[in-house]
Amino acid sequence: MQFSTTLVSLVIAALSVQAMPATPVQERQSTPTIYARFYPDGGCHGDWVDDTVFVQSTTATTCVNNGLTSPYNSTFFSGNTATRTLRVFSASGCTGNYFDVLPGVNNCFAQHVGSSRFL
Ligand SMILES: *[C@@H]1O[C@H](CO)[C@@H](O)[C@H](O)[C@H]1NC(C)=O
Repeated sequence: MQFSTTLVSLVIAALSVQAMPATPVQERQSTPTIYARFYPDGGCHGDWVDDTVFVQSTTATTCVNNGLTSPYNSTFFSGNTATRTLRVFSASGCTGNYFDVLPGVNNCFAQHVGSSRFL
């Protein structure tokens, strides 16, 4: 009888210890992001000149301007954990030509990144 009471206490203790570190991990995973590196040539080769992270917010369609001033001709998107499409525009204010970075897709695009928003 004493043994099983101790066992139950141990199980409860183990469960409560396990539950605590789960929260920060879930919070990290619940913020989808896309990492991007900017390259001088048109094919994402050579030394990258700058990088940035696109953060998918819970509010849908905010336009974010890209403040990057270094010259570049292509951008490689990687580590894509986004659940929505990122639409990337050539000019600021989400205007000009655009291309779509689909959820989970890592790829090179040869276009200026003036601004972007998640659809
Ligand atoms: C981008 O491409 C243009 C046209 O090919 C070229 O003149 C320019 O030097 C390139 N930019 C960089 C940073 O290499």
